[in-house]
Amino acid sequence: MDPVPGPGVSMGGPLSGRRGPVASAPMSSSTSLPPGFPAGVDPERVPRHIAAVMDGNGRWAKQQGRKRTEGHAAGEEALFDAVEGCLDLGVEWFTVYAFSTENWRRPADEVRYLMHFNESLLLRRRDELNDRNVRILFAGRRDWRVPRRILKRMDESMALTEDNDGLTLTIAFNYGGRAEIVDAVQAIVESGVPAGKVDEAMISAHLYNPDTPDPDLMIRTSGEHRISNYLLWQLAYAELTFPDVLWPDFGVDHFDAALSDFAGRQRRFGAAPMEVVPQ
Ligand code: IPE
Ligand code: IPE
Ligand code: MG
Repeated sequence: MDPVPGPGVSMGGPLSGRRGPVASAPMSSSTSLPPGFPAGVDPERVPRHIAAVMDGNGRWAKQQGRKRTEGHAAGEEALFDAVEGCLDLGVEWFTVYAFSTENWRRPADEVRYLMHFNESLLLRRRDELNDRNVRILFAGRRDWRVPRRILKRMDESMALTEDNDGLTLTIAFNYGGRAEIVDAVQAIVESGVPAGKVDEAMISAHLYNPDTPDPDLMIRTSGEHRISNYLLWQLAYAELTFPDVLWPDFGVDHFDAALSDFAGRQRRFGAAPMEVVPQ
């Protein structure tokens, strides 16, 4: 197994992001962007909740002639740049797919690495997230497969940040969309509710984090055009983007491009398109 940096050793950059001092967007007489707001992103149309499938770490490593696990380590910087992007632009919720219920199928060494890596990441970065007013949540099954030490780190990280009211960063860990729906249905059946009373609101209320709004935008890197069991219930009306970049290379420009793409989408939620009123 590859070594994972211990507490206090940061592999990614500090939470100042790759954005650096944001070039001031050009001001026009009719519009003025908030200071530091990147040009090309519409401040009126920033998604409230972004969900990301951080995919392509293995391929990135292969491209570099390195081990898959080094790709996961390299993904940390991209994650924290994306967190920084959310903080900069006022995104309220950011949910990232860190480990799926299907990822246990990977070689034991890689699974072990990912467990240690995620634990180490929490230890190394949670104070910084706390300082930035980020609340940390988790979504996923807390089953026997997740080492108890990691569950402890998760609980500590949530407790440390529970009063923060900036960005909510939800880490989907041992997460599967189908498992989440099964868990919700089991809880409902156990509560003895008659079948006729089960409705969408009740299922939503039994998901892992019932207070989290549905994602507005889902970003999956790596060029794969699939959901891979992510937030199956919650993504019902999300806008989907599939930037053709491997996760460790996903930088602030890709983040801004995804938001700019989102701003151009017309969301309908099943209704007829909005009438365009002629000027
Ligand atoms: C995503 O990258 C990270 C996890 C699933 C933990 P991958 O490891 O799936 O990378 P690829 O898809 O093999 O390139
Ligand atoms: C989804 O990516 C899971 C995470 C990013 C954690 P995968 O790499 O596991 O998905 P598939 O196997 O390509 O569908
Ligand atoms: Mg993958």
